[in-house]
This record gives sequence, C-alpha cells and structure tokens, in this order.
Amino acid sequence: MSNRLNVAPNDLSAFWMPFTANRQFKQQPRMLVAAKDMHYTTADGRKVLDGTAGLWCVNAGHCRPKITEAIQRQAAELDYAPAFQMGHPLAFELANRLVDVAPEGMDHVFFTNSGSESVDTALKIALAYQRVKGEGSRTRLIGRERGYHGVNFGGISVGGIVTNRKMFGTLLTGVDHMPHTHLPGKNAFTKGEPEHGGDLADELERIVTLHDASTIAAVIVEPVAGSTGVLIPPKGYLQRLRDICTKHGILLIFDEVITGFGRLGTPFAADYFSVIPDIITTAKGVSNGVIPMGAVFVKKEIHDAFMAGPEHMIEFFHGYTYSGNPIASAAAIATLDTYKEEGLLTRGAELAPYWEEALHSLKDAPNVIDIRNIGLVGAIELKPIDGQPTKRAFSAFVKAFEKGCLIRTTGDIIALSPPLIIEKGQIDELVDCIRDVLKAID
Ligand SMILES: Cc1ncc(COP(=O)(O)O)c(C=O)c1O
Repeated sequence: MSNRLNVAPNDLSAFWMPFTANRQFKQQPRMLVAAKDMHYTTADGRKVLDGTAGLWCVNAGHCRPKITEAIQRQAAELDYAPAFQMGHPLAFELANRLVDVAPEGMDHVFFTNSGSESVDTALKIALAYQRVKGEGSRTRLIGRERGYHGVNFGGISVGGIVTNRKMFGTLLTGVDHMPHTHLPGKNAFTKGEPEHGGDLADELERIVTLHDASTIAAVIVEPVAGSTGVLIPPKGYLQRLRDICTKHGILLIFDEVITGFGRLGTPFAADYFSVIPDIITTAKGVSNGVIPMGAVFVKKEIHDAFMAGPEHMIEFFHGYTYSGNPIASAAAIATLDTYKEEGLLTRGAELAPYWEEALHSLKDAPNVIDIRNIGLVGAIELKPIDGQPTKRAFSAFVKAFEKGCLIRTTGDIIALSPPLIIEKGQIDELVDCIRDVLKAID
C-alpha cells in the first residue's frame, strides 16, 4: 500500500459532496482508501464487502489488472486527442467492440462521459432525428414516474423522482410521464418479473391520444428502474411499450446505465426481455466505473438519417470535449476484454437463482415489507419509521458499513447490485450482514 493511504484529510469542509447528507458524513466520515476485487478498504484498515459495485458500475470488481495496466499504458502514450474533427484509433476500436456486444441492430455509438450525459444525448438525438426525417412537430418526450435518468436538465425532466426535480424550476417543456409500475399490494415478494401491471403500458396509448402521436418524439424508460429502489417491469410491459411506440412512430429509448454490461445476466436488459429499443443509453459498466465514460447506441437508420447534406458539414451539433477520450477508451476496451475472458456479461444468469433465494430468505427479518430481484439486482423494502421516512434504511446503511458491508439505500429501500464476480459465499455474507443489521436497528 502506498503512503497516501495513511493520510487522513484534515479538513472535510471544502468538498460539497454529491447526493450526500454532508453534515452527517463529516461528523462520521466513511472514508475508502483502497479496493481490490470484491472489497473496499477503509481508512481505519477494515475490509468492506462491496454489495453495490460502487454505484452500480464496478461490474468486473475493483482494481482489475488488465484495466489498470491499460490506463497506465495509455496515459503515457496518448493522453488526449481532440474529440471534434480529429480521431484516435482506440475510440473507433471501442465503438466496434461495443457494437459487437450490443443487441442486434444497435450499429452506432456516440460517446459521452456519464449516464446523465448519455441520457441528454439520447434525447437530443431523438428530437433531431425526428426533425431530419421531416417530422419536426414531434417534440414531446415521455418519461415515467419514479424514473431516474441522471441529473442534467433533460434527464430530470423525463425522470420522475420528485426530490430530484422540485428544486429546479419548470424543467423542459413538452414532457409527460407514464405511471410507474410499482404495485406492492399485488406484487410484494415476487421473485423476478411481477405478474401484475403489464397493462400499465397502455397508459402510453392514453398519453398518445391526449397529445397526438405527431407531437411525440420519444419514450424513455429504465427497463429495470434502479435508483428509485429497483422496480422490475411486470410481465409483458416492455413489449407492450415497444408495440405502442412502433405503431405510432415514436422512438423507444432504454436507459441501460445500470442494466447494461451484464447486470441482469445478459449483456443488456434488451437481451433479457427480448425487446429491442431504438436507442440505448449506457455508462458505468462500460469502463467498469474506473474512468468516466458513457456510450449511446443507436440503430442504423437513426444514424444514417443524419448522414445527408454537404459532406464538409457537421451532421450533429453535439459532443463533449472528452467524448471517446483515449484513456477512457483504453479502459473500456480492457473492461470488455475482462468481461469476455471471465464470462461476466452472462455470469449473473448462473448466480441469479442463488441470489434470489438468498435475498428472499430475508422475508421474515424485522420491518421487511417487500423483496424484489432480477439478475444480480435486489431490493429489500423496509417499513418506514412513522414520520421519519428514509431514516430506517439510512440507519441500516450506516450499520452495515460498520459491520463490513456496503449496501445502498434509496428512500426506505436497500438496493443491492454486487460486482458480477461475487461468489456464493459472499452472497451469504452480504445477506447475513443485512439480517444482523435489520435485527440491530430500530
Ligand atoms: C438509469 C440511470 N440513468 C442515468 C444515470 C446517471 O448516471 P451518472 O450518474 O453517470 O450521470 C443513472 C445513475 O445511477 C442511472 O441509474
């Protein structure tokens, strides 16, 4: 371990931490200083089992040698190349490699640096596509209640998590939302896809009738909603959305920022559900979370629609200084190599039955009101403390960290998404830790 690991920051005040209870954290910091495979190391030298793949991103586990070496090598060889009107080979190689693992028909890739940027990029592609093909009246975007599509203005506009929206004014205009699919009264403790709620997709027909299809550019959903607390699509729901979008010439965008790259036991959620959207947004697992990167996949006809007009003209006025950055590209290629060598894009499918049984063994633990699972994703919903929503789950999070397990909470829901290299014994460890924690807290 390097000396840096022994250095405790002496003042925590300058860093305004994202999505964090800053004052609580700074009184009781949870500082991580190293990581390897399934574990973090804390500043006081404890090992913490990573039950969340960092933030749903470290799919291949931590500090994997191939990825680390690729970054080191690339940083010394070509640190940066302008992303506009210039290229470097790795970004092209990566795009080809990504297309190879993407669902059928996803033939082109636009690089971004995060999930939020991927979402805003996808929304812009959708609007611009409708316009270049002569349907410029299609300007509306449809999202869903409880959806999480990052934190940029496009993403929070189509998103449906109230706390992420209410402070920020009127957001994008011309956005509507479908209802969420969470039906705890009917589907509680379902293993995998719930039976009830597939017909909620028909709400899209109602929205189309209200606004008219000729005004709607795209629908965006997370195939499995993650950040809102793991909502698994009811049987038939996504196919129905696909059918309605196709019928009305509306683009369907799957936000696969967390489901992409093996989370459900298939390379993408589109593969899992056999429903192919028109655009897929990704980030996180594309570079194993090691370096910021996102990738938006589009179908050939969408890409090709832009390739018109004089050849010296820019076809799409959008992009980021770091789109396809060489070091991020090198990291992502090494990530894909690691996924391939270790079969990680499908390993979740082998572990899913064990994961499911282990999670559902918590059914009788104190205050558990629902358990949901799919692939290597899980959620344990807790009964909120009267008048103090989120407090019970937050106490569980803090207690679990003390006990050596990293879990994530959103509202009163514990959300789990371990690295795809997790072993069965570590699944047991994680579940036992949560059981002990639920017994120990109020
Ligand atoms: C479905 C989805 N979309 C977008 C994002 C935003 O990604 P980022 O935090 O990289 O901007 C997330 C992050 O969790 C996500 O889960």
